[in-house]
Amino acid sequence: MKVLVATDKPFAKVAIDQIREVIEGAGFELALLEKYGDKANLLNAVTDAEALIVRSDIIDAEVFDAAKKLKIVVRAGAGYDNIDLAAATAHGVCVMNTPGQNSNAVAELVFGLLVYTVRNFYNGTSGTELKGKRLGIHAFGNVGRNVARIAKGFGMEIYAYDAFCPKEAIENEGVKAVGSTEELYEKCDIVSLHIPATAETKNSINYALVGKLPKGGILINTARKEVINEPELIKLMTERSDIRYVTDIMPAAHQEFCEKFAGRYFSTPKKMGAQTAEANINAGIAAAKQIVAFINEGCERFKVNK
Ligand code: 3PG
Repeated sequence: MKVLVATDKPFAKVAIDQIREVIEGAGFELALLEKYGDKANLLNAVTDAEALIVRSDIIDAEVFDAAKKLKIVVRAGAGYDNIDLAAATAHGVCVMNTPGQNSNAVAELVFGLLVYTVRNFYNGTSGTELKGKRLGIHAFGNVGRNVARIAKGFGMEIYAYDAFCPKEAIENEGVKAVGSTEELYEKCDIVSLHIPATAETKNSINYALVGKLPKGGILINTARKEVINEPELIKLMTERSDIRYVTDIMPAAHQEFCEKFAGRYFSTPKKMGAQTAEANINAGIAAAKQIVAFINEGCERFKVNK
């Protein structure tokens, strides 16, 4: 039974050691493919793998075609928009994620980026504080809840909108629930995105919505690049010199953002929200344990394809 960890963006070594303990402890074999770059390397490595642990790696029909022995793929993380679920189902492969395991890491980065932004990217000029500002959490899942918890420590006024989470569940966390995305953007000084990339959300963060932010509004994205309508955000930021955009997922139009919006735009060079030893360990061990439980007991908890 061969388990392949295929991560173009590798886990911390300490996480690999612990994944190995779980996999080898179950009597399985662990293979590692890191920083593989070219997709051909991935296609070659999956040929004899029965289980696969990945991160944002693209697992499409071509990969499933090449992985003739594959039974299960676990996305060590939350968002599984990188995996072709229909192709997985067609090949009889179970796909799972590990929800919640890396969410604190992403939430902490939100505040790292926010402090950096409101202190004018540490350029030495007077900035502002987060205390007393209105923070809008766009989607109240695992990351959104962690963002709310940390925002309380900063003394922020916290609002949230989630199309799928009941109002009471949001308010039980001491957060004000609003009735629409429009209301969230209108009310808040800062909006933090925590929506997945789906057919409905792609390009949904557009001119009309972000344009509702009050003067000096900040949009922060640690979710997915695809949810942003980049041409419309560029149009808005061109018209409104008060709007700032900070992101952990480099836009396709990164160069244009840099050139046009110096001082009000920042992107990390590589998505790093979940790049902590703790998140790697939590998500990696969860993935390994889910594989062992699936192979040994047929446990399908966290399965995301039909
Ligand atoms: C997730 O969906 O879990 C996060 O976006 C982290 O993704 P990563 O594993 O590629 O860092």
